[in-house]
Amino acid sequence: MRRKITVVGAGQVGTTVAQLTAYKNLGNVVLIDIVEGVPQGKALDLQESGCLQVFDSVVVGTNDYKDTADSDIVVITAGVPRKPGQSRSDLLAINAKIVKNVTEEIMKRSSNPFIIVVSNPLDAMVYLAKKVSKLPKHRVIGMAGVLDAARFRTFVSLELDCSLVDVDAMVLGGHGDSMVPLPRYTTVSGVPITDLMSQEQIGRLVDRTRNGGAEIVSLLKNGSAFLAPGASVVKMIEAVLLDKKRIMPCTAYLDGEYGWSGIFFGVPVKLGISGIEKVIELKLTEEERKALDTSAEEVKRQIAEVDALLASRS
Ligand code: APR
Repeated sequence: MRRKITVVGAGQVGTTVAQLTAYKNLGNVVLIDIVEGVPQGKALDLQESGCLQVFDSVVVGTNDYKDTADSDIVVITAGVPRKPGQSRSDLLAINAKIVKNVTEEIMKRSSNPFIIVVSNPLDAMVYLAKKVSKLPKHRVIGMAGVLDAARFRTFVSLELDCSLVDVDAMVLGGHGDSMVPLPRYTTVSGVPITDLMSQEQIGRLVDRTRNGGAEIVSLLKNGSAFLAPGASVVKMIEAVLLDKKRIMPCTAYLDGEYGWSGIFFGVPVKLGISGIEKVIELKLTEEERKALDTSAEEVKRQIAEVDALLASRS
């Protein structure tokens, strides 16, 4: 039987996820949004490319959650972007309401989906989706590290004028200013970049990675990145559905790993058919550990805000 992948939010990221998922023939796709007509129009447009791109996935656009029934994977991209002058807490409160509602609607019709969250603030939204869905920790995951590492890989390959394919990177921590790119675990054909570049070069690339999202926003003026984010989500879908057991940085629930419990945090995981099959604990220097703890404190504060919101609404 074909797999069913539901994408909630037919905006920029959601549409890219739907498109790449269909192009790769990973399963049938349901695109759902609150705006009437948009998911239907985009789904039809995508379906009409099937004979050209050669895929036979069925693509459905809808505003009705009954079409999401029995999804294998649900990608949540629904939300609003941060507006100029808006505080992160205000954004958190608005998107928390959306992500809570979406998760409840999904769980009424799919008993054991694998949920990938994209909506921001990411670490808080994926925590919320886990809490509301009551799914086991290995079935709820946030997309951040794959994207942040892809950006770091890109900047390394541009700096060294070498193939992107040979570059691997590791970025841990929360998805935001406090993320922790790890140069010691970032390699070109197995050689750490600490052996290939000066500290000044590395520092510049680390900063550019941390500001990767903002750099695109400032260029686009209206909207944020969607091509690399969409491609990152589809790498994760592929790893799960094809049981690839790929090791990639993802936002996962921590249960004592890295010394933290009860938070979602960017760490390397093994992704396969069961979802997060293992959290991999890297050996860190004191400096790396300190940066990671600072990031975890920031994520903990966001999660406390989610808990307070949930308590005030129950
Ligand atoms: N249910 C379903 N869809 C919703 C809901 C809801 N309750 N609320 C908003 N949406 C939809 C919007 O109608 C819009 O089509 O979510 C979509 C979001 O798309 P974009 O605004 O284009 O945002 P995008 O660039 O795709 O980013 C998606 O990723 O980076 C994060 O925080 C960002 O939440 C955003 C997400």
